[in-house]
Amino acid sequence: MFRQLKNNIESKRENKDIFSKSLVRFKDILWRIYNYFYPNFKFPLILLIKREKYLETLKLSLSKGYNNKPPIIIWDGYRRMTMMEKLIKNVILENVPGSLVEVGVWKGGMTIFFKGVLKVNKIKNRKVWNIDSFKGFPPIEKMELKKYPEDKEDAKIWSKKFNYSLEKVKSNFKTFGLLDKNVKFLKGFFKDTLPNSPIQKISVLRIDADQYSSTWLALKYLYPKLSKGGYVVFDDWKLKYAQKAIKDFRKENKIKTPLVFGDTKDPIPYWKKE
Ligand SMILES: C[S@@+](CC[C@H](N)C(=O)[O-])C[C@H]1O[C@@H](n2cnc3c(N)ncnc32)[C@H](O)[C@@H]1O
Repeated sequence: MFRQLKNNIESKRENKDIFSKSLVRFKDILWRIYNYFYPNFKFPLILLIKREKYLETLKLSLSKGYNNKPPIIIWDGYRRMTMMEKLIKNVILENVPGSLVEVGVWKGGMTIFFKGVLKVNKIKNRKVWNIDSFKGFPPIEKMELKKYPEDKEDAKIWSKKFNYSLEKVKSNFKTFGLLDKNVKFLKGFFKDTLPNSPIQKISVLRIDADQYSSTWLALKYLYPKLSKGGYVVFDDWKLKYAQKAIKDFRKENKIKTPLVFGDTKDPIPYWKKE
């Protein structure tokens, strides 16, 4: 009697396994047919058909290009997104309150990915903040070079790059079906926008703004809003003056929590706020 019951349970489990495997195969076939007829796919549809592969598809599309368009995120974007995915999942699991924020968004590749991670985890109440001038670095005449002499050298390299409008960033979000009222934009040069920003609590703060003053201002005005258990992440460790800003800030604020570097030559260090 007991053995029969056990056999029944096992055969039901096997049937369930066969059913879920067939469902995955069926979705895969549907996806192939759809992709054959409509190679210029739409992201919300992908979500229906390929939910379990959504983040992977999103990462590949953002970092390798989609619809025959160039990638939205460059510089080893796939690795960077994979790293951010882990940190975002940690703050979700540990219930660390606050928005996901990127300072220096350019085309919005990383923040689109942030929103995708929230979407697959069915998180509706966290905001994603995009902070940028949406017209590139401040022109030399608008820089406070007396206050931040380190910017002088960077200004020559960066001043004409990264001019990408807010409208285009919004349109990139729309392409992936990820623009909603919880995707926020703070437009303008940091020295004007950050001191009185409406951002409240932050759970993940990613800083990718290249220059000394930009990195410094992001830390000065946003780090105090980072929740305990939240992460601050730096994309620009390899840039001399951005690195100096991080070190200066840690020194001035007596932050002893070690930076986590990982084992790569191009680290994206971070620390978890204690
Ligand atoms: C390297 S790009 C960001 C790349 C983006 N995070 C990505 O992964 O694709 C740096 C961005 O920082 C912005 N930026 C730097 N300093 C700024 C400042 N002081 N005020 C406003 N925007 C600034 C630039 O406009 C540019 O879009």
